[in-house]
Amino acid sequence: MVLRLLIVLLVALASGAAAADRPVTFSRPVTFSRDIVPLLQQHCQECHRTGGGAPFTLSEYSHVYKRRDKILEAVEKRLMPPWKAVPGYGDFRGERRLTDAEISTIARWVAGGAPEGDPKDLPLPRDWSVTTVLDSPDVVLRPEQAYTVAARSGDVYRCFSIQTSFSEDRYFRASGVVPGNPKIVHHILAMVDPEGLSARLASGRGSSGDGHSYPCFGGPGVRIDGYLAGWAPGGRPWDLPDGVAMFLPKGARVVLQLHYHNTQLTAQTDRSEVRLRAATGPVQQRLRFMRVGRFSLTIPAGNPSYQIETGAPVFRPIHMIAIHPHMHLLGREMKVWARMNDESVKPLIHIDDWDFNWQGFYWFRTPVPLPVDSRIELTAAWDNSEGNPRNPNKPPRDVYWGERTVDEMGHAAILYTFDDEKPR
Ligand code: HEC
Repeated sequence: MVLRLLIVLLVALASGAAAADRPVTFSRPVTFSRDIVPLLQQHCQECHRTGGGAPFTLSEYSHVYKRRDKILEAVEKRLMPPWKAVPGYGDFRGERRLTDAEISTIARWVAGGAPEGDPKDLPLPRDWSVTTVLDSPDVVLRPEQAYTVAARSGDVYRCFSIQTSFSEDRYFRASGVVPGNPKIVHHILAMVDPEGLSARLASGRGSSGDGHSYPCFGGPGVRIDGYLAGWAPGGRPWDLPDGVAMFLPKGARVVLQLHYHNTQLTAQTDRSEVRLRAATGPVQQRLRFMRVGRFSLTIPAGNPSYQIETGAPVFRPIHMIAIHPHMHLLGREMKVWARMNDESVKPLIHIDDWDFNWQGFYWFRTPVPLPVDSRIELTAAWDNSEGNPRNPNKPPRDVYWGERTVDEMGHAAILYTFDDEKPR
């Protein structure tokens, strides 16, 4: 891992040097106003702006100058912009990635003293106001009360069980999440709890709930049947293809899973919400949800590379819309592909440097068709050795499948539709 970062770094440095050898690119100094701001607008400000979810903005010269070394380190190690999927393996909407040339531009800017240049060269500020489901929702779901996260809490995973009040089944075609307190909200996932069992976990009777929420790390602790929304910094609203809708059965509850991280010196409160837009016109297909992976695991203490290989056959023709790999703190790698009915292989997603803090849904640029008799196949690997700095057990101990922090999981959640579904 360290070795790989080093190699990436060396390659980046080497390509920087190669670019510098070319007189055309070397002839004028790289300046903030002319060369850097367009890169920040395109690749960083989606999150690094007011309300964008990142802890600081990257727009003013003085702010960027102050952080120039950290910025260079983050882009050279490809920690920023955050995007865990290996490029070229699976084809996704909204891929975040700097080119080698862009990284070497930043490197040359820093090496040249990070000059501001002529403010006349500045491009117009980028306009981030877009009209989405967030502006005109049909339904807003939020926890009954605000939740307080203690000062300097570190990571807190909390599930809120939200009552819905519809007298019939409902269908939604778009959703968005509004984090209540961006200073502490890291991730949000909204899940359908068809039987409403999360109410009991939240009740506090025989559980660690407080009446409306309960602690939850890897999952909601109840059987869920689909997702309604998801958010991480830079996350965009979900907008499903025409005719496809998310299903919320009558009487269901919605579980809102929040990952908080409070680094502030004071306690912080949050009340985040999910906004939904109803389906208009006939629903051709319901957005379905499945998990492919292993749901029983024993990862031996000390094993630096415990691997599994598993899969699931496709019995009805489907189109895959999005994929969300999921492991906990010991996870290192996951690769998912489809073995088609003619034995050809279609890459779906590969994460070779798993980070629990950067997970979420990856949306295929175009939905991926899988015919009957194809298979979804997956490999995953965990590092349960002492050498893994994220190992929560010191010394390491055997780890089993489960949803708690000390447990592990290993699956890909997949959002898909059935091709042969009858419109309703
Ligand atoms: C998808 C959202 C997103 C995008 C896009 C993004 N960042 Fe970040 N960035 C974050 C968040 C969130 C953090 C806070 C660290 C964390 O929570 O892991 C962060 C942290 C950082 C840090 C601090 C790292 C440290 O070690 O303290 C730097 C520097 C940074 N970003 C630079 C950039 C640059 C430069 C770009 C564009 C090339 C960029 N980021 C794009 C979300 C983003």
